[in-house]
Amino acid sequence: LTMISLCSAALFSSVNAYANCDAGEIVIKFSHVTNTDKHPKGIAASLLEQRVNTEMNGVACMEVFPNSTLYDDNQVLEALLNGDVQLAAPSLSKFEKITKKYRIFDLPFLFADVDAVDRFQNSASGDKLKNAMKRRGLIGLEFWHNGMKQMSANKPLILPSDAKGLKFRVQASDVLVAQFEQLGANPQKMSFKEVYGGLQTKVIDGQENTWSNTYGKKFFEVQDGVTETNHGILDYLVVTSGDWWNGLPSDVRDQLATILKEVTETRNSESSLVNETNKQNIINAGGVVRQLTPEQREEWVTALKPVWKKFEKDIGSDLIEAAQKANM
Ligand code: LMR
Repeated sequence: LTMISLCSAALFSSVNAYANCDAGEIVIKFSHVTNTDKHPKGIAASLLEQRVNTEMNGVACMEVFPNSTLYDDNQVLEALLNGDVQLAAPSLSKFEKITKKYRIFDLPFLFADVDAVDRFQNSASGDKLKNAMKRRGLIGLEFWHNGMKQMSANKPLILPSDAKGLKFRVQASDVLVAQFEQLGANPQKMSFKEVYGGLQTKVIDGQENTWSNTYGKKFFEVQDGVTETNHGILDYLVVTSGDWWNGLPSDVRDQLATILKEVTETRNSESSLVNETNKQNIINAGGVVRQLTPEQREEWVTALKPVWKKFEKDIGSDLIEAAQKANM
């Protein structure tokens, strides 16, 4: 019941704010799936909304729909192409049906940390990836950081063999499916909004996510604990439809792009701090966080390394090398 009333409260306030758009303003609906405060994406989207509505008042009006109130990530790209929303920021794991290049971001233990991801995204090869879906009508505007993923389950995860036989929720990515199969676990693709219920009803045993998602959606409450594996990255692409973007008056497009770029730089530099805070929030709320010794972590690295080979052809070994260079 609480969930239902929370959802309708969120929807009501969205509808209200939307009604504040003036006639003649370009309406920009931004749909995403996470919580708003204490979350790298939620904070960035709110800041973008606030700046657009202040600085572009009279010209454009932005309305953010968080918490999957409007669309799931598996519906939102279609909604962009249909013109039902104008902006979204799905995780990079969710572009699989449109490009195989983004599989680079899901390879386990490829990036040492978010700084390495940042360097790669800002390199020539990373930047090129924003345009990988142009032919499919989508334009990538900016990469937004969330952070490194951690693993949780209904039993302690210390060695790779602990994951054997467990059912793990994964985002809609074949690399992530392969990752858990490599551990002898059973991966299941599931939308973000179904994860808490899935864990609670034991349809799934575990999941992987960032501290901010694990805290923001309270997954830790229905798990034995979270192991700090830092085994992969969860980042986003702020994406729009080419038709809509190219149809904007050029001064409007430029101003929007500038605001978005500034919000990206400001918030990306804070994402690690937001995640650290959420790790502490989990501990403060009574959640269990487990650390691995360097030797234990190395066992996970060794166990998961074979996944790279499976996707090398789709991604291209040159791109994998470029990503590895970003670790140095
Ligand atoms: C997930 O589905 O776990 C994440 O992609 C959710 C999000 O947007 O961070």
